[in-house]
Amino acid sequence: MVKLPHTNLDSSRIIYGCMNIGGSWDDSKISNDAINNTLELVSTALENKINFFDHADIYCRGKSEEVFSNIWRELDIKREKIIIQTKCGIRFPGFPNSDSPQRFDFSYDHIMYSVDASLKRLKTDYIDILLLHRPDPLVEPVEVAKAFNELNDSGRVKYFGISNHNRFQIELLQNFLSVPLIANQLEFNIVHNYLANEGITFNNSQSQMIHGYGTLEYCRLNDITIQAWSPLGKGKFLNGENFPDETSKNVFDQLKAIADNHNVTPEAIAVAWILRHPAKMQSVVGTTNVERLKNICKGSSINLTREEWYKIFNAGRGERLP
Ligand SMILES: NC(=O)c1ccc[n+]([C@@H]2O[C@H](COP(=O)([O-])OP(=O)(O)OC[C@H]3O[C@@H](n4cnc5c(N)ncnc54)[C@H](OP(=O)(O)O)[C@@H]3O)[C@@H](O)[C@H]2O)c1
Repeated sequence: MVKLPHTNLDSSRIIYGCMNIGGSWDDSKISNDAINNTLELVSTALENKINFFDHADIYCRGKSEEVFSNIWRELDIKREKIIIQTKCGIRFPGFPNSDSPQRFDFSYDHIMYSVDASLKRLKTDYIDILLLHRPDPLVEPVEVAKAFNELNDSGRVKYFGISNHNRFQIELLQNFLSVPLIANQLEFNIVHNYLANEGITFNNSQSQMIHGYGTLEYCRLNDITIQAWSPLGKGKFLNGENFPDETSKNVFDQLKAIADNHNVTPEAIAVAWILRHPAKMQSVVGTTNVERLKNICKGSSINLTREEWYKIFNAGRGERLP
């Protein structure tokens, strides 16, 4: 457990990502399979000391939040024992009008509408952490500040953060907010490693320049917890039979060798690799397979050596360090 900076929350380092627990991404009803599988997944998560659950208003078109709320009540878990995070700001095409495009929306009205709808689906009085899902080019920080203040003052949202935001986008928002941005959810794994690679390729002709504006260092400096999404690369470098490319196969071979030494599976080492980073990141795992989830959880107690970390990093970079 870690105390999340800027908060009173004691959290597991592994977050369970609820993106797919609602079943299909359409307007169909929640199936019995989705209910039963979620019951098993949430119970397994809790048994393995995961107390943090990540949602978004859009996941399975609201069904992920809905099925989750039924499960934690059925399991009779006290609300204060779990951390519920959700996100807003992505809008589907075709709503409210048939010609409405896919878009991002950080307007005051949409944030307020979305949070109230999530609270209803989650059947709770408050959300622990609300994230803005993807940067909206039309953002008006004053409107975001107004929404955040009202949500905070009314007790509907305790803490706030962002997702997929770079350093300057965070600074712009924070400049107008009276609450701190406590978390930034970003894609990060052994192959999608730009956050860590940027500092190495800066001012170097060997690799393509990566423009991340020092977002990782900025988050470290300001105690904004990075939540790494897709920590398993959606299985790309773990599925031992079907690798999409040579790099994924090399990553798997490294993970397997290190996993065997620690008596765990490669998935556990992929998560341990993220947790070993000194930024004290969290890892948002999205498996819907109960056995895989149990295996992954073993990664949170493995502290990789510097040598092990670099073997995996080098395999994921796919080229020599400078
Ligand atoms: N903020 C954002 O923009 C954003 C974007 C995407 C996701 N997220 C969050 O991050 C969470 C995790 O995302 P994710 O699902 O993309 O990440 P992930 O944990 O890297 O990938 C999970 C997927 O990989 C598959 N997988 C894992 N290990 C495998 C293996 N050994 N062999 C075959 N398949 C394997 C899983 O299949 P099984 O289910 O069969 O295990 C599942 O489909 C989401 O639930 C969501 O909460 C956030």
